[in-house]
Amino acid sequence: MAIDKEMIAEIKNSVNIVDVIGEVVSLTKAGRNYLGLCPFHKEKTPSFNVIEDRQFFHCFGCGKSGDVFKFIEEYRQVNFLESVKIIAERAGIAVQVETTPQPNRRLHPNQALLDIHQDAAKFYHAVLMTTTIGQQARAYLAERGLTDDLLEVFNIGLAPDEADFFYRQISAKDKYDENTLANSGLFNFSEENNRFYDAFRNRIMFPLTNDSGQVIAFSGRIWTESDVERKQAKYKNSRSTPIFNKSYEMYHLDKAKSVASKQHEVYLMEGFMDVIAAYKAGVENAVASMGTALTPEHVQHLKKFTKKVVLTYDGDTAGQNAIAKSLEILSDMQVEIVRIPNQMDPDEFLQKNSPEALGQLLQQSRVSSIEFLIHYLKPENIDNLQAEIAFVERIAKIIAASPSITAQNAYINMVAELLPDYDYFQVEQAVNNERLSNRSAISQEARLQSMRVVELPVSKAMTALVRAESQLMHRLLHHAYLLNEFRHRQDFIFDTAELQILFELLKKQGEITTVDLNQMEENVRQMYYRVLEENLPEEIANNEVEAIESRRNQLIQERELRKQSKQIRESSNHGDTDQALLALEQLIAQKRNME
Ligand code: GTP
Ligand code: MN
Repeated sequence: MAIDKEMIAEIKNSVNIVDVIGEVVSLTKAGRNYLGLCPFHKEKTPSFNVIEDRQFFHCFGCGKSGDVFKFIEEYRQVNFLESVKIIAERAGIAVQVETTPQPNRRLHPNQALLDIHQDAAKFYHAVLMTTTIGQQARAYLAERGLTDDLLEVFNIGLAPDEADFFYRQISAKDKYDENTLANSGLFNFSEENNRFYDAFRNRIMFPLTNDSGQVIAFSGRIWTESDVERKQAKYKNSRSTPIFNKSYEMYHLDKAKSVASKQHEVYLMEGFMDVIAAYKAGVENAVASMGTALTPEHVQHLKKFTKKVVLTYDGDTAGQNAIAKSLEILSDMQVEIVRIPNQMDPDEFLQKNSPEALGQLLQQSRVSSIEFLIHYLKPENIDNLQAEIAFVERIAKIIAASPSITAQNAYINMVAELLPDYDYFQVEQAVNNERLSNRSAISQEARLQSMRVVELPVSKAMTALVRAESQLMHRLLHHAYLLNEFRHRQDFIFDTAELQILFELLKKQGEITTVDLNQMEENVRQMYYRVLEENLPEEIANNEVEAIESRRNQLIQERELRKQSKQIRESSNHGDTDQALLALEQLIAQKRNME
């Protein structure tokens, strides 16, 4: 019974909606559209439009709109498949359609509220796109960089500047009961006059959707000079309703969520216009809370899709304060912060620069939350010692909580550079104090976690043994006579595997070539560069190589001792006394050896 999509498109293309509707409604041409009396509600002046270019109809009176199939559905009171069949017959296209009755759609408990919001969004959008006053509003929006395409994508609308225009349209349809109207948040009831008024008047309307993309609320922005002069609130949001919880919902999340889960991050912004600016810059995973501070419920909601939030708040003081507040609520998420220059918001940055520049800023101008806090908490008067001390105390706690030692060192450096009266070691001391007091407090699990992270950046942290061997290798690379000596020492082997590989190469060829570097394993190559980085005086000092060698041997032996002690402990723990004794004997022999 299903007809495929292509077939449906072909059927639709085979007729002109103007002809189909023209058969039952008397239409007159008005500009590029056709106008007539609406067949779906009673009216004396025509407000029923048929738009030929886009093959759809819309009534400003009752808000009904759709394509040719929708018209047939409404006009003949049939379901979709039947409407397709009717049009196909008219066009002489043969289709086999069994019109079994559709199973009842399972209704959402608040289906009526969802429906009325959908109708409202259509109504506001049509007012913006097709009326004279809408044209003026679109000029304002165009000035702000919102093309008609964007108005479609974001389904932006306009609430007319009348007391109850929308209310009259919607009640004329008789589709919603009084309860629905009263609970929708779209109208205010006046006890005094015993009637409803539109909640939104003369505002640009931004529809807010739930995760499934259904409209559940609106935010309206003033746009006329007179409203600005009368100091009307810039934005006005729908009040809370059974389908709208503003502490949970975020603007554009329905569209952002899939990109957010693919890219593993979501941008959180302050304003709707900022989210739209991001979209223009090719960034689709941006959302905004509805003009409220971030709540734990918002965070729970975001967590459904990603673990990382990129805070992109305005560059002004209010924005910076909001970041600091949000960081507390986002404590168990990964957070990065975009720094926007010159107190701008993302939208202003785009206007002053370009979409490309905003795209770059969002990607590249990020700092960690700790770096943000270092700058945010930094005392205003940097020369006040008291303030410096207080700052270091506070920031040391934050730095010590960072799971990576490498990162901690970078932050310590940053703080030391900011403060005239502190050097690296003094700041490090403050952080160390916090590390110590933290250690007893954090759980075993957290400690394991942080150890794992600490071990990751192996890059610069060499063990004493690797360092000694690396210095030896440095000498071998730069002093041919030393290499010659070592060539003849059959027993000499580097303990560090990567260095031994380099050593073999060197013995064979006398040098390490670019070709070798290209062919060797990544860890070996890195080790080679690390060796080159050794900062040694050009000349080999007296006994230097001997000293390095004996330090190296010492370190290897110490390690062996540690291994054996551990073995003894383990063996005796397991009750294996023979094994423990054997290991103990070896240990004693070795210790003697070392003396
Ligand atoms: P534009 O001026 O249109 O660019 O908006 P903006 O996002 O730059 O405005 P602003 O930074 O002042 O506000 C950020 C967000 O706070 C807005 O998107 C609204 O959600 C909210 N907001 C701003 N002003 C008001 C207001 O007067 N009332 C309410 N309820 N929310 C507001
Ligand atoms: Mn703005």
